[in-house]
Amino acid sequence: MYISVCPLWILCFIIITLVSSSSSTIWYEDHVSLREINTQENFSFPKDFLFGTASFAYQYEGAYLTDGKTLSNWDVFTSIPGKIADGTHGKVAVDHYHRYPEDLDLMHDLGVNSYRFSLSWARILPKGRLGDVNMEGIDHYNRMINAILKRGMEPFVTLTHYDIPQELELRYKSWLSPQIREDFEHYAAICFRHFGNRVKFWSTFNEPNVQVILGYRKGTYPPSRCSKTFANCTRGGSDIEPLVAAHNIIRSHLAAVNLYRTKFQEDQRGKIGIVMNTIWFEPVSDSLADSLAAERAQAFYLTWFLDPVVFGRYPREMKDILGEDLPEFTKDDLKSSKNGLDFIGINQYTSRYAKDCLHTACEPGQGGSRAEGFVYSNALKTGLPLGERTGVNWFNVYPQGMEEMLMYATERYRNIPLYVTENGFGENDTGVLLNDYRRVKFMSNYLDALKRAMRKGADVRGYFTWSLLDNFEWISGYTIRFGMYHVDFDTLERTPRLSASWYKNFIFKNVGQRRDDDDA
Ligand code: FCB
Repeated sequence: MYISVCPLWILCFIIITLVSSSSSTIWYEDHVSLREINTQENFSFPKDFLFGTASFAYQYEGAYLTDGKTLSNWDVFTSIPGKIADGTHGKVAVDHYHRYPEDLDLMHDLGVNSYRFSLSWARILPKGRLGDVNMEGIDHYNRMINAILKRGMEPFVTLTHYDIPQELELRYKSWLSPQIREDFEHYAAICFRHFGNRVKFWSTFNEPNVQVILGYRKGTYPPSRCSKTFANCTRGGSDIEPLVAAHNIIRSHLAAVNLYRTKFQEDQRGKIGIVMNTIWFEPVSDSLADSLAAERAQAFYLTWFLDPVVFGRYPREMKDILGEDLPEFTKDDLKSSKNGLDFIGINQYTSRYAKDCLHTACEPGQGGSRAEGFVYSNALKTGLPLGERTGVNWFNVYPQGMEEMLMYATERYRNIPLYVTENGFGENDTGVLLNDYRRVKFMSNYLDALKRAMRKGADVRGYFTWSLLDNFEWISGYTIRFGMYHVDFDTLERTPRLSASWYKNFIFKNVGQRRDDDDA
């Protein structure tokens, strides 16, 4: 395969050999890896460690009104002119709905033992709780799950990844209403009932922090709500609505976990968790104020969701600043909330500096607002970036952030099992670009950082790259490419990049040989 990937295959061979065989090559020039290089050599991943790739319904499936599916919030949002950078949508995306067998073959060829994907709620319950279950949607996912298992992979399933039936938006404004908890619980029950005999890893939500910050504070994701002071939205309230939406998401998560634990887990023997977007916040200076600001930044981004689920309360930093604006949990919520997770999914891409704006004056508009915990976060310090900039505005490469983040979650949540549910490198669309050496270097350095965290005691049990294929990158449309396979968006042809060969080789070197030995 690899010879056909790369026209200059001799050059590619040399590059792959350098990247994968010796840790002391120029490929590991990043100072973080160099420092640790000797310790990485004899690291060994547990045999049941999950290596996989991740995808999501709206970004991959296409088939937007096929087999009884109705409109999702993202179908509606992308149809509004000006919302998506290149004016595109996910109506076809990479047509994974029809091409999944071929895509699963590509994954199998990489040697991964797991596939993380999400279900489309609008495919399963096109009319919401008040309508019938769409058996065509159920049959589709049943076929796909069976095909995943047939190839020796574990399905790692997310119930909802940003997309919901538009019907919920119209009926009661979706996450702004406490009613959604009942709808989510109903939907989760259907999924557990139909798929739970084969799915052993469930996540309720993917990145609810991104969903509420962009959907209700900045207004750049559906339902496009924010205050006029934040952006040009026609409705919303950036200070309060994100708190309300987050509260309803947390309560919905708890309801689904409670349901799984009381009705399904004993028979089905799976695990259930939540997946969060993480940013490692590095204090911009050694001052106490900036260290506290970095901690506040985590509170207003990550522990906002995780603390209630694990400890039954919002983080103290949020309570101190937001006071009564922070919604309260009911006694009923709290009953099911202690340890409402079997694992945490960590999506780790980027890191930022955090600067105090509580005790220090900050420039207007620089994150010094109450809703953001009076922290200004930025990738630059005196003009220099934390790590390396990429062509993607929110993303700078800082492998050390992976290690820090995993240790932070380990310490705060008492060594709970962690899965790195997403990590990957995105580039602006600059043509074919099969020789994605920057992605290879990124993966290599982030995986080194992951190993360092495991060596220090983090209970990391899996790693999923984002992503197998180039796909629909939300408001950036098709202008940013994250795939280990290039996709020609006209013909939908998939062509492997250098990173696909590298990942295959990495998995084989780290667990493949042992898996083969065991099978023998
Ligand atoms: C993550 C999202 C995923 C993808 C990557 C690049 O935050 O979960 O869907 O867009 O970013």
